[in-house]
Amino acid sequence: MGIRVNPLIEIGSHSHIRTGGKYSKFGIVPNKVIAAIKRAQNKGLKVIGLHCHAGSNWLAKDLITFKKVTEVMTKTAKKARKFTKLTYLDFGGGLGIPLWPDEKSFTTDQLTQYATIIKKAIKEAGVKEARIEPGRFLIGDTGILLTKIIHVSKGEKPINVAIVDAGFNVFGRPFIYGAYHQIIACSKANKTPIKKYMIGGNLCEGGDVFNTSKKELRPMPLLEENDILAIFNAGAYGFSMSSQFNLRLRPAEVAIINGKAKLIRKKEEYQDLLKNQIYS
Ligand SMILES: Cc1ncc(COP(=O)(O)O)c(C=O)c1O
Repeated sequence: MGIRVNPLIEIGSHSHIRTGGKYSKFGIVPNKVIAAIKRAQNKGLKVIGLHCHAGSNWLAKDLITFKKVTEVMTKTAKKARKFTKLTYLDFGGGLGIPLWPDEKSFTTDQLTQYATIIKKAIKEAGVKEARIEPGRFLIGDTGILLTKIIHVSKGEKPINVAIVDAGFNVFGRPFIYGAYHQIIACSKANKTPIKKYMIGGNLCEGGDVFNTSKKELRPMPLLEENDILAIFNAGAYGFSMSSQFNLRLRPAEVAIINGKAKLIRKKEEYQDLLKNQIYS
């Protein structure tokens, strides 16, 4: 078995997805790891790895903090090895993708730095195997949410509002984390933005907007009903965080495989909302 260590360092783009540090519910603090190993051994369990995941969606500028996390793991592993034979250290996931326009992807050099930090950590710890658990980095930018505009305000509100036929039940990251996701109007991608809009979802919650917040309005070309909007970087924590909130149905999912569209999940029907109900 492995033990999840809280390195008492947090990293990540939003407090909700930082999983290390003093105010984290995860893991065992480094100076209690030996006691945890002994407790496991008393129950007949063999501890062969130490694991951590200090947080999610961090970028190259955070490599310094990630290195500090690995140093805590190395130090903890060196002590732990006196009590158990460790075969691996697991550094979790967390590698991010650029969301805001001024953010940059990891370069090959920066990924090499990431690998070098990990290699050094396991070597110093005297452990053979390194494990990582990247999630978003692998699939975040592979998904796009397409949603249709069902209403555009016409001067009756203090701001311009375009309401779409999806809500935070379909894609929750802007609502839950105030996450920025690029939005374009598919048939107007080359048109100059001329107005700032709130892109509102179709749920009865004031926070149900696809902007980062109710106050961050998005410069867009003139939007009209039936325009299809594309919300980018919806490939990770999109469907997996979707729900039937407010008894709403989730849309279909389509994969593009070798240039061909393939339905990979049917859109939900009303009977899907009721299928687990027990009537008697
Ligand atoms: C233990 C653990 N490992 C890996 C991940 C993946 O994180 P990410 O998608 O940021 O790489 C998570 C995400 O919650 C996690 O909790």
